[in-house]
Amino acid sequence: MRYLTFALAKGRLARKTMELLKELGVSCQEFYDPDTRRLIFTDETNKMKFFLAKASDVPTYVEYGAADIGVVGKDTIMEEGRQIYEVLDLGLGRCRMCVCGPESAREYLQHHELIRVATKYPVIAKDYFYNRKQQTVEIIKLNGSVELAPLVGLSEVIVDIVETGSTLKENGLKVLEEVCALSARVVVNQVSMKMENERITALVRQMRQQITARNEEKI
Ligand code: PRP
Repeated sequence: MRYLTFALAKGRLARKTMELLKELGVSCQEFYDPDTRRLIFTDETNKMKFFLAKASDVPTYVEYGAADIGVVGKDTIMEEGRQIYEVLDLGLGRCRMCVCGPESAREYLQHHELIRVATKYPVIAKDYFYNRKQQTVEIIKLNGSVELAPLVGLSEVIVDIVETGSTLKENGLKVLEEVCALSARVVVNQVSMKMENERITALVRQMRQQITARNEEKI
């Protein structure tokens, strides 16, 4: 049997995904070693390999088949626009993609003014303003700490992820419009889906059942 390879977005999501897989009997001792600098982990029993990648690179590894399966946020999937199948919503890391800014910027949105929008997600922001809102805007790509942009006059609003809302609150910004809900998804390489269909389908089914069981426990 060949190895089924997983690309995981490194950080909290990768740890949560491994926890979920552990509940399904996938064990990867080395993965839980906090001091390890290893990038690839193997489960010999289940013939699975796992590697950690930067979130925005996960869809790339999956599209090219370097990984059969990926676990990554919906934000990254939308932004990267890769040819991959999205097969499961894990419901982990729930948050929202929003247009945010000072209260004073609300009228620019209502009047469809030509404003500047700072974001780490230019594809998502462009799609939202041009296709859904039909508002012409100037998109400014940033790489982090996007909340800074309206505070220092780089842009009128931002398109960014809001989780607890505390970053916005502490900086006097508000959610002005919601673009979409986000959470972690399982994605699959299109060829792997055909060649390893049974194995992948069974695994995805087990993951779905485990997520459902967890949710039922909470109620
Ligand atoms: C994300 C996001 C917001 C913040 C939202 O940033 O871009 O800044 O988290 O979380 P909150 O609503 O709970 O405050 P991240 O920590 O990934 O840093 P970065 O934007 O600087 O990359």
